[in-house]
Amino acid sequence: MATAPGKIILFGEHAVVYGRPAIAIPLTQLRATAVVASATQPGIRLIAPDLGQDMLLSDAPPDDPLAAVIRQVQTAVNLPTLPDMTITVSSQIPVASGLGSGAAITAAVVRALAEFLGVSHLATPEWVSTLTYEVEKIHHGTPSGIDNTVVAYEMPVYFIRQQRQNHIEPFTVARPLHLLVADTGVRSSTKIAVGDVRRQWQENPVKFEALFDGCGRITQAARAAIETGDVAALGPLMVENHALLQEMTVSSPELDRLVTTAIAAGASGAKLSGAGRGGNMIALVTPEMETVVHAALLAAGAKRVLITTLA
Ligand code: MEV
Repeated sequence: MATAPGKIILFGEHAVVYGRPAIAIPLTQLRATAVVASATQPGIRLIAPDLGQDMLLSDAPPDDPLAAVIRQVQTAVNLPTLPDMTITVSSQIPVASGLGSGAAITAAVVRALAEFLGVSHLATPEWVSTLTYEVEKIHHGTPSGIDNTVVAYEMPVYFIRQQRQNHIEPFTVARPLHLLVADTGVRSSTKIAVGDVRRQWQENPVKFEALFDGCGRITQAARAAIETGDVAALGPLMVENHALLQEMTVSSPELDRLVTTAIAAGASGAKLSGAGRGGNMIALVTPEMETVVHAALLAAGAKRVLITTLA
């Protein structure tokens, strides 16, 4: 059995695909779980009760995400056949909501499968991240690698996508940050949002390079503020980052409403988090304002509001 957490992107989503830095943290209270057990039936049985899925690997459609994970692991361990087994996955992370549900499920399956097969070197964060990235590529087109990194290493990261090897830096948090994570309830495809940004960048490279540069500068300033404990500087940086994401057309009326509501209710800053067009937004609050902002987000239509602290 193995688990992997969800994630939230604090700063720099989308621009991170184009080599600018981004900051992401694990969302440890929402997790994906994979259980691998020896089976009495012949073959490899894949069960995802949340999705109502129960099938044999041999019957899985070619683009089935779970089947892709198993093939990746099989190739990595270089085994011509795998033993009969049952793989059951479940997840508390809502799908298509910017919280890294796909990456978390993949990472949990890779880890559980590596342990089951007795190839525990494949259960290291490096390998889990690498194999998860391969599966992310199948489903998301051009992922930056930040989602698989944060769910596999399960630690806050300052991340820059790079040719040979991504630049991954842990960072210190001088003063705790209290965040609310609010779900619009609108599901949205990362692949479509990332593809739309790419098309716009191709049509208007000067504008989009400038937007990405802006996000990169914000992320660098945010990292400095987190490391020095300058929490007051972070709120305005979130607001600025959200404005740039709006210009990239990845916000939505629901996300904008929750961002405006959070700020009006006393949050120091707020922005969408992840691919956008739906999914989740985050708001930075002081412990005193947490309850008020939490209630305001629910009143404005948030389907769920989580509280998380980066310390
Ligand atoms: C998705 O969680 C974050 C994006 O920047 C895409 C990526 O980095 O692969 C939108």
